[in-house]
Amino acid sequence: MKEAQFGFLYMPVLSGSSGRDLAASLAEILGMSYVAIESRKFPDGEGYVRVPSESFDEIRSEPAILVSNTFPDSGIMRTILMLEAINDIRRGDLENYKGEGDQHLNHVGPGVFLAIPYYGYARQDKRFSPGETISARVISEVLGKICDGMVILDLHEPKVLEDCDFPVKFVSSMPEIAERLKEEVDPDFILSPDKGAIDRASEVASIGGWEFSYLEKTRIDAHTIEHQAKDLDVEGKVVAIVDDMISTGGTICRASDALRRQGAKSVHAACTHGLFTGGALSKLASHVDGVYTTDSLRNPRSVVSSAPALARGLRELIY
Ligand code: R5P
Repeated sequence: MKEAQFGFLYMPVLSGSSGRDLAASLAEILGMSYVAIESRKFPDGEGYVRVPSESFDEIRSEPAILVSNTFPDSGIMRTILMLEAINDIRRGDLENYKGEGDQHLNHVGPGVFLAIPYYGYARQDKRFSPGETISARVISEVLGKICDGMVILDLHEPKVLEDCDFPVKFVSSMPEIAERLKEEVDPDFILSPDKGAIDRASEVASIGGWEFSYLEKTRIDAHTIEHQAKDLDVEGKVVAIVDDMISTGGTICRASDALRRQGAKSVHAACTHGLFTGGALSKLASHVDGVYTTDSLRNPRSVVSSAPALARGLRELIY
């Protein structure tokens, strides 16, 4: 068997049908092998997954990494099913109705890691009103019971998982986003559209050596936000707004309007997670000059690979 970069035999990186390219490039960066899990839907919409039997030896002989999003809701279910399929293989619980292959083998111990490019439900990170559940925590509690550690890319608010009782590494694609902005946009100024994105956006600004400021935002409802007026020194400047995610595009459009009112020459938007719900891309097209995202979610603006960031977290988690 081929020797991998870190001294293990060839560790497998697995994924279902979504995110295959990302998982394959992650495997390449880590010097591991890529295994495609068969995943499809039954006619009623329920999910089906099957790990190919040719990969059982690899999965049992080395720690295994599953790359999977907890988005949309079917992604949560698929992640659970794929993790449990891998766990069964490592537990040696292979008994099957057709009687194919080995039925029972020994348990090879812990070694199932989950890399989550986009962690769905991250924004419900507090109990805003009585009777709500903290959805971000619920997801981690379910998944934490069936894997031995997780790497999460640009989680909206990492604090929500601070107390969890399994290993978690938080990683960020901001270094790769900064690199891409330097190549494509060469901005003068980086703007965080709200206080929550200050750490991320200021990281991009300091990597590129660009000026930085932020806005204060009030969210009225899911579709309406207001930015508090603030003087920004952007006259004649090329500005990039950096956030963790773009959903409806409302935050970016309003921030861009504020920048243009203050004389910005051009305005670009960059984020890790491009959700682009409800016609966001066409709305953004009339407010910004360019949009850049990672491949944590499949979308037409995904130009930055999130594999290097996930690889950084997995190296820390596993070695
Ligand atoms: C919220 O705090 C997030 O960081 C984003 O700013 C927000 O989710 C973007 O949503 P939208 O594109 O719908 O304004």
